[in-house]
Amino acid sequence: MNSRSEALDNDSCDRAIRGSFLHFVGDPDEQDDACEYIEDGLLILKQGKVTVLGEALDWLDSLPDGIELHDYSGKLIMPGFIDTHTHYPQTDMIASYGAQLLEWLEKYTFPTERQFSDRSFADGVADFFCDELLRNGTTTSAVYATIHPESVDAIFSAAQKRDMCLIAGKVMMDRNAPEYLCDTAESSYTQSAELIGRWHQKGRSLYAVTPRFAPTSSEQQLEAAGQLLKDFPGLYLQSHVAENQAEIAWVAKLYPDRRSYLDVYDFYELLGQRSIYGHCIYLDDSDRQRMAETGAAIAFCPTSNLFLGSGLFSIDDAKKQNIRLGVATDVGGGTSFSLLQTLNEAYKVSRMAGQTLTSMKAFYLATLGGAKALYLDHQLGNFAVGKEADFVVLDLAATPLMKRRMARADSVADQLFALMMMGDDRAVHATHVMGQCQYSRV
Ligand code: GUN
Ligand code: ZN
Repeated sequence: MNSRSEALDNDSCDRAIRGSFLHFVGDPDEQDDACEYIEDGLLILKQGKVTVLGEALDWLDSLPDGIELHDYSGKLIMPGFIDTHTHYPQTDMIASYGAQLLEWLEKYTFPTERQFSDRSFADGVADFFCDELLRNGTTTSAVYATIHPESVDAIFSAAQKRDMCLIAGKVMMDRNAPEYLCDTAESSYTQSAELIGRWHQKGRSLYAVTPRFAPTSSEQQLEAAGQLLKDFPGLYLQSHVAENQAEIAWVAKLYPDRRSYLDVYDFYELLGQRSIYGHCIYLDDSDRQRMAETGAAIAFCPTSNLFLGSGLFSIDDAKKQNIRLGVATDVGGGTSFSLLQTLNEAYKVSRMAGQTLTSMKAFYLATLGGAKALYLDHQLGNFAVGKEADFVVLDLAATPLMKRRMARADSVADQLFALMMMGDDRAVHATHVMGQCQYSRV
């Protein structure tokens, strides 16, 4: 927090937001004072970045004339939610009945992804997808496109229109998939390289090399993915690992020389900082050690893991080995765009695994923890001075039942717990990106 004595003028601020503020300055499992809460706070911005977060009554009088003031008094303002793994092309096939992972991919996913060779079709879904993120308070996401370069152009264009910080990439897939969805090791390298040139670090866009998962890539293609990481610094890498038992058995057959599923990726040098692995349900201790020492991150996808009957991820095991961890919707294996609903199911998964998930830890994972998992915590994840002001304005009394439950809440932690168990898009009053309102419920 800044001191009241700091002078404000039109050079240091152009917008202010009043409301109740909550954010994390550290991991609540490691630090007692990790959460900062200001009941009547003022967030002061300049060109979309934080200048001050302080008590409203300390700062209101120092605002220069003509500054734009958004009054969200009575609402709770948090950093925008961060979804560390999702598939925009699967938006329209969300909630498809009755299959586990491999059958679900064949039956629903591949035919749906085929449509994204058509740029105008891809544009339509990408626009809807980004609006849906914002409607749910999500401001940053790591997104899979399809094998079609057009699908990548569509999602980055949609994100840029809304000024969103998005990570995305072309899916690489050269075997064990329908021919219409296969590239080759060579074409996947060339097309990815072109897309990297067009989008990576352009505005707020960041590129992720995206081999779908080991079963649909040849050894040559995984090598090509590793080569991209070497040839273009600062890239992300995203893939799936250890999600489902049949998938794991298949990988063991396809890659008999590797110690484990994760070791396939490790062998091709795909583990490191800015590598994001979806699911990670069935990692062992050695795998987790590699995740931790390489700086790779886990994207925990509870609604997807329950929906596809994949299994129960252990947050405690990830924590024990100090692995970077974020939460993720994994739409359309996941059943909701809402990070609130995702935290609800994360809590239930933890209970089924004999563990627990406090509300403080849950909201940390959805904000600063997610930013750390994605190596974006220098610019996102809380309201520290200089960070980009992506935030969500939450209505804790969004439904009659929530209103009654909140009246009973005896602490901020209790309010947050009720919010994550009962909240969804109805609790998102507004979403701001770089300070600008990009979604308003009313
Ligand atoms: N593994 C490989 N592809 C996918 C996908 O699209 N969704 C999920 N949940 N798992 C995958
Ligand atoms: Zn996925």
